[in-house]
Amino acid sequence: MFKRVVEDHQDESFSSIENAREYAESAEKSSSMRFRGFLNRLKSLDIRGRYLEIGAGSGVLAAMIAADHKDVNITAVEISPDMITVANENIKEKGLDSHIQFVAANIEDENVLQSLGTYDLIYSTFSLHHWENPREMIRNSMRLLNDGGVLMIHDLKRVWWLYWIPMQTGFFKSIRAAYRSHEIKDTLKEMGASKFEITSIFPFFMQIITIWK
Ligand SMILES: C[S@@+](CC[C@H](N)C(=O)[O-])C[C@H]1O[C@@H](n2cnc3c(N)ncnc32)[C@H](O)[C@@H]1O
Repeated sequence: MFKRVVEDHQDESFSSIENAREYAESAEKSSSMRFRGFLNRLKSLDIRGRYLEIGAGSGVLAAMIAADHKDVNITAVEISPDMITVANENIKEKGLDSHIQFVAANIEDENVLQSLGTYDLIYSTFSLHHWENPREMIRNSMRLLNDGGVLMIHDLKRVWWLYWIPMQTGFFKSIRAAYRSHEIKDTLKEMGASKFEITSIFPFFMQIITIWK
């Protein structure tokens, strides 16, 4: 079997201004491939109101959402101050700073959670495989949802046809650290989630988990 492999590279690339800029540039360049599936799914759900992004990185996705949905307000939580600096530059340049507020915080901190208020949509992209305690993150996020609200988690999927490629780049390491759909399904069932969907999206090494409150 191809087991989940987590390496300690996972947080390095977010921890300096140079790395944050490099990450932002790569996210911007590949934004269509990275986020198209998520944006299509979001459009089909048609959620209005307050959005919370967890681990928002350089703010590329938040900017794409705000540009498309001028009536929503996005709170973007990010733990790396360097990522936030780059994200704020990016958002200001696009003239979207009145729609997106970055908050420097650790989303796993209970006090932070309580101070954030409640939301109609909470979403996170390409972060699930970095979370030390996914159950806690999901449970905490569900607490912040308004009734009928939705949690969307978009991430890589551990597929065998990429798992066995012996490359050590961040992408292949992340593929080996990602979850298979059935592992997520079992976790959500154990957690007592009653309504959820896990959708594979093209090019089929990505998946979107949608959980309704
Ligand atoms: C792989 S990046 C994804 C960034 C962005 N969502 C994207 O799709 O491009 C993961 C991000 O989550 C942030 N992060 C990790 N743990 C976090 C935590 N506990 N609270 C808030 N942000 C966190 C990291 O600093 C990093 O910017």
